[in-house]
Amino acid sequence: TRVAAPGANGHVLDDPAAGRTNTLRELAELLGRRRESIRDGDAEATRRQHAKGKLTARERIDLLLDENTFTEIELFRRHMATGFGLERKRPPTDGVIAGSGLVLGRRVFVYATDFRLFGGSLGHAHAAKVHKVMDLAISMGAPLIALNDGAGARIQEGLNALAGYGGIFRRNVQASGVIPQISVILGPCAGGAAYSPALTDFVFMVKDTSQMYVTGPDVIGAVTGESVTHSALGGAEVHGSVSGVASFVHDNEESCLEEVRYLLSLLPSNNTEFPAVVDAADPADRACDALLDLVPADGRRPYDMRKVIAEIVDDREYLEVQESWARNIICAFARIDGHVVGVVGNQPLVRAGVLDIKASEKAARFVRTCDAFNVPLVTLVDVPGFLPGVDQEHQGIIRHGAKLLYAYCEATVPRVQVILRKAYGGAYIVMDSRSVGADLSFAWPTNEIAVMGPQGAVDVLFRKELAAAADPAELQRQLLDDYTAEFLHPFYAVERGLVDDVIDPRETRKVLADGLAMLRNKREFQPQRKHGNIPL
Ligand code: HXC
Repeated sequence: TRVAAPGANGHVLDDPAAGRTNTLRELAELLGRRRESIRDGDAEATRRQHAKGKLTARERIDLLLDENTFTEIELFRRHMATGFGLERKRPPTDGVIAGSGLVLGRRVFVYATDFRLFGGSLGHAHAAKVHKVMDLAISMGAPLIALNDGAGARIQEGLNALAGYGGIFRRNVQASGVIPQISVILGPCAGGAAYSPALTDFVFMVKDTSQMYVTGPDVIGAVTGESVTHSALGGAEVHGSVSGVASFVHDNEESCLEEVRYLLSLLPSNNTEFPAVVDAADPADRACDALLDLVPADGRRPYDMRKVIAEIVDDREYLEVQESWARNIICAFARIDGHVVGVVGNQPLVRAGVLDIKASEKAARFVRTCDAFNVPLVTLVDVPGFLPGVDQEHQGIIRHGAKLLYAYCEATVPRVQVILRKAYGGAYIVMDSRSVGADLSFAWPTNEIAVMGPQGAVDVLFRKELAAAADPAELQRQLLDDYTAEFLHPFYAVERGLVDDVIDPRETRKVLADGLAMLRNKREFQPQRKHGNIPL
């Protein structure tokens, strides 16, 4: 006996032909709704978005991901909020497109805020979608990319919106050091929308169209009376060169998203993996003759460390982080013999490559990022010391310099130090000396490694003798010569096991490639603890 039962919408379920017709009808409705939701909103809002020089959220996702690899989640989700007219405006997606796809064939998770809906502001449903995609990224051990273009907490949703941000922040921190997290700022990012990027590993910004601030110009005007434009307050140039908030600054969205893909190619999917290795066309033993000319033997003459890096790494290709901030130190990803390395180098071209507060913070962050994601460290040293001065001391160079020291001491990835010309005092120790844990250290023959320069040393040690001398100038000359002969050459360090070898500068690339190959399987375990207490 056949039992005919009405379906939820009254259709009889036991007639196969009718069932098929009904399903197709429902499917047509589904497809219509889907098309409407994906259609990318209202044309006028899209026109306004484009007129500002900005792409839509879906256009951005298309540029970021490999073609046709995007799988979307919760397309139909809408907010359930009422009040302030919200019940009349309930667009699908709730202003955020979320899901997963591939970048250069590797899985990533992504969400993109849609400024055309509620100014990209975050309410409860919007936040829940972001939480979900973050949870998936953490579970899958895949990078998370946030494409931000939004006004922060959705004012009409009140505390629910704030709590939504809290959930994002907590997940950002849970994911920190587990999966790479990249924030791309592609419009205004106010309030909570600025704090999530601050918790992630890298922040990309685009000139003219992106801004980040905790409180915008209007609030600042009302509270402090200061008058400032959006871009003067928190534009890409400001965060790229003044605050250091932006890791990378781009002229347009296309080049920005292209570089996000490039950065992802240099990172592992998570902290249990290594970055991908490529077949290097550039021979690992390539002689670097140009280094003899690039680096003047006279330690007081400047040169551009970026040229040295280009000479040493595969195909002269490197990606500099925070290029325009704290330029007296360089932090860059590159490859040597096909393997990704993180290069930290003093920059003699800017303030003689001295270490100061900003340089210490920049390099500390980079060292920790490399360490978290299994990227070996190559440290190119040419440093006169820490920057002396009342201002630096009062702003806490002790505390901030200690961040770099801490970061190196803690790092367990393979670490190779190369001292190009000079390395003095605390700065020598901090810049990944053997004593703080470098696995290998090499020095060029023109090296000066010492507690301090000859003049300072002689003044401290022989003040009384010089004052009492019949010919102080002659005595001083003699003492300076003695000090130079005793200390200012690399053999002092190499004889004491503080440097492994003195090398021909032209062989720097080969020495690094061999050293890194030797260290490839390094495994080092730290004592159990909840976490260290880095001086913040
Ligand atoms: C809801 C918002 C909104 C918000 C803007 N809109 N901000 N809706 N909540 N926070 C809406 C506008 O009403 C408008 O809707 C549309 O988005 C576009 O906004 P415009 O102002 O017309 O655009 P524009 O001139 O480009 O200015 C963008 C902006 C500005 C700079 C982002 O809107 C702004 O300053 N908004 C307020 C930012 C803010 O203070 N957010 C709260 C932060 S507090 P219609 O319907 O007209 O298109 C926060 C706390 C987090 O986030 C806590 C963590 C620590």
